[in-house]
Order: sequence, then structure tokens, then C-alpha cells
Amino acid sequence: MQVLESEQFAKPPTHIAIIMDGNGRWASARGLPRVAGHQRGAEAVRVVVESCRDLGISYLTLYAFSSENWNRPPSEVDDLMALLRHYLRREIVELHGNNVRVRFIGNRAPLAQDINSLIDEAESKTSDNSGLTLTIAVNYGSHNEILGACKSIAVAVADGSLSLDSITEEVFDRYLDTVNTPPPDLLIRTSGEKRLSNFLLWQLAYSELIFMDALWPDFTKRQLEEAVSEYHGRDRRYGARNA
Ligand code: IPE
Ligand code: IPE
Ligand code: MG
Repeated sequence: MQVLESEQFAKPPTHIAIIMDGNGRWASARGLPRVAGHQRGAEAVRVVVESCRDLGISYLTLYAFSSENWNRPPSEVDDLMALLRHYLRREIVELHGNNVRVRFIGNRAPLAQDINSLIDEAESKTSDNSGLTLTIAVNYGSHNEILGACKSIAVAVADGSLSLDSITEEVFDRYLDTVNTPPPDLLIRTSGEKRLSNFLLWQLAYSELIFMDALWPDFTKRQLEEAVSEYHGRDRRYGARNA
């Protein structure tokens, strides 16, 4: 891909979030079972993490399993959980070796005990790393996250530890799963679908959105570079006016 001269010096987006969609269609197009698409999707995760490190991205947030994905047939949910287990067992050592800090967002309570333990282990092992922060959204849904924040704030107001007047947007941010993470500069969704599917609704308020037709298992460094290049061409006005 041709890189414009102006882009060579452009600051990369600090935070990229990705809705990794299209695994099932990738598999169907090849006459394969859906699980084969999810397996290839996990390989694409490896590639995108490496590419983000190369491009100097500080935060990468990946939507791996939504709170609505429980509505899929139990066999597919089982396959996705088995893949998550496998990923946690196989990749964490390498991620740690590459100075990646791993975090999870979403409601962990319904996840299997061993997956919860692997998540705890991954987070604590990598917590002091200073390279890429990789956030993986598992059983994540924005409505649930925002509702949880509202309930915690209501409790704090009721017990007197928080006053109504002190609830600012910054304070609200601290009650979300994404606490201490800047909002995404760029959201990418693969597979041609143009919706957010309950992902980071608060956090994406001023993000640049890029919807691409590539199916997630076909996502490579090239697609990432193209998205970053398109991002650099966007004019982020935040409601103000540029001269
Ligand atoms: C994304 O691929 C993976 C998850 C949602 C877990 P899909 O499984 O949604 O693939 P399509 O959208 O059916 O092609
Ligand atoms: C969004 O994809 C969730 C993930 C990528 C994990 P879906 O495939 O579940 O979204 P919908 O159902 O097409 O909106
Ligand atoms: Mg999908």
C-alpha cells in the first residue's frame, strides 16, 4: 500500500477498538463448520496484536463475545468458550514476553470457573507490562455496563460517599469497565455490517468509525494499515470548527 508522506509523521491512533465479525460467513463460504471460522479468527487476533505493536498503537480493544452471543446454539457457545480457554492457555506467555498488558471487560460471573481463573492469571501476570494494552471484551454489553455504573453510583450517593453534584462525566467513566482507558480513536468493524451491536456505546461518542467488507479471518496487517490511513484522512472536529 502506498503511504502518503504526510502520514509517515502522523501520530498513530492511541486506541483502536475492533468488532471482529464474519467468522461464520468465512467458514460457510468454504463449506466448513462455523468453528473453523472462529479458529481462523483467533489466528487473526495474533496478527492484529503484533501489527498494533509494530504500528505503535497503545490500546487495542477486541470484541470477542457479546452479552447477546449466549443466544447462539449451545454447541457454538461451547466452541467459543473452548477457543477462549485455548487462547488464554496458549497466548498469555507470549503476550507477556512481548510486554503486552492484558485486561478483560464484561461480566465474568457466568463464565466457567477455570476460564475466570485463567483471566485472573493473565491480568495479574501482565499487569506491570508497559507495552500495548490489550483489552478483550467477553460477555460484554454496553447497556449492562452502563446500568452497572448507574447502580454503583446510586449506592455511593445513598450511602453518602458520593454527592450528586460531584457526578461528572469523568467520575462516570471511573464506574465503567473501561476505567483508566482512553476512549477509542478508531473503531473498525469487519464483515460489512454497519452497527455497534452493544459495544462501547458511551466510549465511542467521538470515535471515527470504519466499516470494512473483509471478514474477520481475512483481516491482516494490510487491512489495519488501510484503516489507519483512512483515519488519518478524517477531520475530528468534536463539534467545534476548524479554521
Ligand atoms: C464473529 O463472527 C465472532 C463472534 C460474534 C463470537 P460471527 O460468528 O458473528 O460470524 P458471522 O457474523 O455469523 O459471519
Ligand atoms: C458482534 O457480532 C459481537 C462480536 C463480534 C463478538 P455479532 O455477530 O454478534 O453481531 P450481530 O448479531 O450481527 O449484531
Ligand atoms: Mg456476526
